[in-house]
Amino acid sequence: MKLEDKVAVVTGAGQGIGRAIALALAREGARVVTTDIDLPSAQQTADEIRALARPALAIKADVSRSAEVSQLVRQTLEAFGKVDILVNNAGIDQIVSVRDTTEAQWDAHMDVNLKGPFLCSQAFGEHMIKQKYGRIINIASVVVHRTPPGQAAYGASKAGVIILTRVLAIEWARHNINVNSVSPGMVRTPLIEKAQQENPRLFDKWWESIPQRRFIEPGEIGNAVLFLASPEADAITGANLVVDGGASAIWSY
Ligand SMILES: NC(=O)c1ccc[n+]([C@@H]2O[C@H](COP(=O)([O-])OP(=O)(O)OC[C@H]3O[C@@H](n4cnc5c(N)ncnc54)[C@H](O)[C@@H]3O)[C@@H](O)[C@H]2O)c1
Repeated sequence: MKLEDKVAVVTGAGQGIGRAIALALAREGARVVTTDIDLPSAQQTADEIRALARPALAIKADVSRSAEVSQLVRQTLEAFGKVDILVNNAGIDQIVSVRDTTEAQWDAHMDVNLKGPFLCSQAFGEHMIKQKYGRIINIASVVVHRTPPGQAAYGASKAGVIILTRVLAIEWARHNINVNSVSPGMVRTPLIEKAQQENPRLFDKWWESIPQRRFIEPGEIGNAVLFLASPEADAITGANLVVDGGASAIWSY
C-alpha cells in the first residue's frame, strides 16, 4: 500500500469530496483524522474508515479559528504521534452577484476557504518541518481557470489558495514538504445536486460546455489527491492538478 505508516488529516471530511478523499487515503493504508465543523458527519466518515480496518479519529474543528486549529494539531499528535499529509478541503460556496454580496459573505468565504488552509498549513507545517517530511494538498476550484458570474468571493478565495500553494511550495521545499493543489470541476456532491435543482437552466448551460459531458465523481478527486500524496509524486510541488472533464481547456463547445 502506498501510504502505509502515514498519518493524514482531511478537513471538511464529513461529506462530499472530503469524505471521498479520506476514504481514498485510508484504502492505501493511511491512518486518517477526519475533521469537520460538523462532528457527527466527521464521525460517520471515521466509522466508514474503521470498517476498512484502518484507524481513524474524528475531531471537531472550525478551520477559520486559530484556537480550534491548534487544538486539532494537539489532538492529532496525541492520537497518532505525527502528521504526514494535510488535505485542506473544507470550503463554502454561495453563488451571489458582486452587487448583492454582503461584507459578511465576503469575509466568510475568505475565512473558511483561504484563511483556513493558511492556518492549518502553518500549524501542521511546524510539525512537518521538524520531521523533515510533509505533503500538503489544497483543494482549489475550476473557477480559478474558467470563471462563472456569481463567484467573486468564492473565486477570489480559491485564487488565493493557488498562490498560497505556490508560496508554501517554494518556502518549504528544503524541508521535504511538497505543496500542491487540485482544482475540481463540477463534482457530484449533495451541494451541487441541490444547486442543480434550484438552477436547472444554469446547470444545463454549464453541462453543455463540459467536453466530457459529465459530473466528476468525488472519488476521482480522491484519486488525484492520493496521487499527489503518494511517492509517485515526490518531484511535484507548487503544481495545480485540474480535474474537470476538460471544462477549463476550451473556449466554447
Ligand atoms: N462540489 C464541487 O463541484 C466543487 C468544485 C470545485 C471545488 N470544490 C471544493 O471542494 C471542497 C469540498 O466541496 P464539497 O462539494 O465536498 O462541499 P460540501 O459542502 O459537500 O462539504 C464541505 C464540508 O466542509 C465542512 N466545513 C464547512 N465549513 C467548515 C469550517 N469552517 N471548518 C471545518 N469544516 C467546514 C462542511 O461541514 C462539509 O462537511 C471545497 O473546498 C469546495 O470549494 C467543490
